[in-house]
Amino acid sequence: MTTLWHGRFAGGPAEELLAYTVSLPYDQRLAPDDLVGSRAHVKGLVRAGILDGDEAAAVFAALDQVGDELAAGTFTFVPSDEDIHTAVERRVTEIAGPPGAKLHTGRSRNDQVATGLRLYTRRMLGDVADRIIAFQEVILGSAEAAGDVYLPGYTHLQRAQPVLLSHHLLAHGWALSRDVDRLLATRARANVSPLGAGALAGSSLPLDPHGVAADLGFAAAFENSLDAVGDRDFVAEALFDLALLGVHLSRIGEEIVLWSSEEFGFVTLDDGYSTGSSMLPQKKNPDIAELARGRAGRLIGHLTGLMATLKGLPLAYNRDLQEDKEPLFDAFDQVLLALGALAGLVSTATPSVERMQAAADSPYLVATDLAEWLVERGMPFRDAHAVVGALVRDSIDRHVPLDELVAGHPDLGDDAVALLEPGVAVRRRRSPGGAGPDPVAIQLESFRERIEADRLRVEG
Ligand code: ARG
Repeated sequence: MTTLWHGRFAGGPAEELLAYTVSLPYDQRLAPDDLVGSRAHVKGLVRAGILDGDEAAAVFAALDQVGDELAAGTFTFVPSDEDIHTAVERRVTEIAGPPGAKLHTGRSRNDQVATGLRLYTRRMLGDVADRIIAFQEVILGSAEAAGDVYLPGYTHLQRAQPVLLSHHLLAHGWALSRDVDRLLATRARANVSPLGAGALAGSSLPLDPHGVAADLGFAAAFENSLDAVGDRDFVAEALFDLALLGVHLSRIGEEIVLWSSEEFGFVTLDDGYSTGSSMLPQKKNPDIAELARGRAGRLIGHLTGLMATLKGLPLAYNRDLQEDKEPLFDAFDQVLLALGALAGLVSTATPSVERMQAAADSPYLVATDLAEWLVERGMPFRDAHAVVGALVRDSIDRHVPLDELVAGHPDLGDDAVALLEPGVAVRRRRSPGGAGPDPVAIQLESFRERIEADRLRVEG
């Protein structure tokens, strides 16, 4: 078997070495990026006077053929193809002959893999941002459709105050906006070319890293060759962004699990987005929501795993860095699958308006409004809080409806009882960013604008 390093070695690689070090099964997905990087490198070699026009044409044609073979599934891998970079270069040399053997001039797999992985990451970060926005549009649609429907807002998972359903849905939407923001910031930092760093120290050949960086659409070229090949900050940042996105999707999942339970009964899931039980005929389970919750653990694991891999590495490239790919690829795969499944789940779910509003119509959820009503009539809030708290305690202890006690209280009376009418309290949440119809109408508009602006940022 011929390896890339056969000149220095008397014997071939051991079978166990190949089995343990091979990355081809998973890094094949970098093929398109490897080809793009290789084309830019060839152009750079022409500008440096290392390849002439005919040689470059032969290598370009071979790279095109390799791309076609890979796309068509006719590319034949051989046992010495330890990674996609090795495989592409081997095949280019087979096709193009001696000019193909010049492809790797001034280049190492260390800058090559860093280049391919940055191109891939840059693209995928945009794709994820795009899919988040598609999910945000689903959330926006549900929020618009929710109209004036309200439900209890919770703290400590105890009913606290009524909020509009649209307000609750948009709360998740804004968390996703921060995710989009983070992904785009990470994309900007990843947008630096490492090509031309060589194995670690640059080259004695007249290469121009800035030229190839420009050809690849990178915003800049590396400043330090050791950093260029040893840096995986962009992978760690991407994994953090995806893990936090996963945490947000997990929190959405957890609420769907709760809301679809018989105990809450706030939402009915569509059959197409629910599963049944193999044994219990009556069951309808929220498996998508549960997996969105469960896979967040896996995404967090990918982040912590890579951080542990990186923490002890001396400069510059170490083979440990090959461990960056599987977590990154899986994290991208998992969030894209989750976003698609959750978008379908949310867009097809039916809110149970009566259950939500009945749960929010408990007079105890209006306690704060009663206290604030007293505040508006001059009572210090701490005193008002005590007055209403005592009424609530009395109501619970003596099983007397709160409205009777409010009606009979000298500081409250019939005017205050009106606050206890269903739906009144939520309409009184008028402060900016609050949970009532007036601020939510404004919020819906700014969320819509935010999504539109983010779409342009993702494309730009
Ligand atoms: N497959 C390797 C990786 O992903 C490519 C770089 C190998 N470089 C080397 N010097 N062995 O990291």
